[in-house]
Amino acid sequence: MKDMNISTARLTIRPLALKDLADFHCYRSNPEVTKYQGFDVFTLQQAKQFIEENATKQFGKPGEWVQYGIENTDTGYLIGDCALRLDQYDSRVAEIGITISHLEQQKGYAKEVIGGVLTFLFDVQQIHRVVVIVDAENTAAIHLFTSLAFRLEGHFVENVFFKGKWGSEFQFAMLQREWDSRA
Ligand SMILES: CC(C)(COP(=O)(O)OP(=O)(O)OC[C@H]1O[C@@H](n2cnc3c(N)ncnc32)[C@H](O)[C@@H]1OP(=O)(O)O)[C@@H](O)C(=O)NCCC(=O)NCCS
Repeated sequence: MKDMNISTARLTIRPLALKDLADFHCYRSNPEVTKYQGFDVFTLQQAKQFIEENATKQFGKPGEWVQYGIENTDTGYLIGDCALRLDQYDSRVAEIGITISHLEQQKGYAKEVIGGVLTFLFDVQQIHRVVVIVDAENTAAIHLFTSLAFRLEGHFVENVFFKGKWGSEFQFAMLQREWDSRA
């Protein structure tokens, strides 16, 4: 399957590359950025290893997360990354995740990226359903997916033990027909 490469008004979403290492490490080493995510802060070496391992993956293999770089098209700098995974048992279902650098948040970038990713998944790949899991304390992410008209369909209470305590999560989803009928 051809790998993903999406252009939006300001951004290019494309495979992560080693040239992204400094930008990638800058935000992935910030505990505020990783606070609500399943992974912890990265050392430079861990960031490099992550990019190298990710380069062996390609969109379309069920059950496997693939991370994409989000590049500011004008400057060429990496401003974040987003991840996609097709469901292990039914590849018509996808899960997504997104991280925007602490230096670039609240500029509408995440909204622009997810819009581009949904266009790719629903209109090009004919995906039936897109799911996102968000920590119940992650106000920014809750705003983001609510604003994009994702439907809140689950509230899991103290279902994951991570970073030393039990965490609760919301599950948001959107169906292809909901995407097609959006205003
Ligand atoms: C969640 C995250 C991706 C949002 O990225 P962003 O580029 O700042 O978001 P946007 O600028 O596109 O904003 C989208 C909406 O969320 C709102 N929002 C963004 N950050 C917010 C915050 N800290 N508090 C409240 N609302 C916030 C915006 O006002 C906007 O609302 P609107 O559509 O009604 O105008 C970013 O905060 C982030 O990377 N956080 C750390 C990683 C993470 O937790 N990822 C989520 C895992 S799924």
